[in-house]
Amino acid sequence: MTRDELKAWVGRAALSYVQPDSVVGVGTGSTVNHFIDALAGMKDRIAGAVSSSVASTVRLQAHGIRVLEASQVESLPVYIDGADEIDPRGCMIKGGGAALTREKIVADLADRFVCIVDDSKQVDVLGRYPLPIEVIPMAAAQLQRRFARAFSGDARLRGGVVTDNGNCILDVHGLRIDDPLAMETEVNQWPGVVTVGIFARHRAAICLMGHDDGVRTLTY
Ligand code: 5RP
Repeated sequence: MTRDELKAWVGRAALSYVQPDSVVGVGTGSTVNHFIDALAGMKDRIAGAVSSSVASTVRLQAHGIRVLEASQVESLPVYIDGADEIDPRGCMIKGGGAALTREKIVADLADRFVCIVDDSKQVDVLGRYPLPIEVIPMAAAQLQRRFARAFSGDARLRGGVVTDNGNCILDVHGLRIDDPLAMETEVNQWPGVVTVGIFARHRAAICLMGHDDGVRTLTY
């Protein structure tokens, strides 16, 4: 079973969390692309989707799925998205696709976050995957120094990437995130930080994890 086959498997499995006639929150990434393709099969049974990126919007619309603005809904029953890492409490690192800010906004609208990953994303402690931070460009150099001082982290500018919001991404290497909620809270307050890619406040309620022997459902 290849990684992509595992991603396709969990993408299809997530359909069972989509409520008929509801608006579904849709994340970003290669795993979510499989979910979107599967969702197309039930597009006449949902009211539409709120998307977390231009890329997901384009894919949803190509399937004829109605895309609503986040401002058009008061809440969503479910948000379905991938992750770069997920720990045993459902806390995640996200932002590998640079969509973390809109992902957190849509996740915040949702009653529950259903995470879809292959088993390579499961970790005991977050931080092996470089932590993405969306930052206002004028603050990037100063935030690089601050990560080095505060956490001995090596924050590198992601070359050639401008987010959907016109900002840049720092990827912070060399972290061990023992207390994800504390680090998310701290870094969110630093001037120039738009969004930190730790999803502890908006952690997963459920994770559908693809293993060679099938999809396991983890609840937190
Ligand atoms: C995008 C994300 C993605 O969910 C994360 O990078 C996982 O992507 P993939 O499903 O391609 O492995 O956070 O910003």
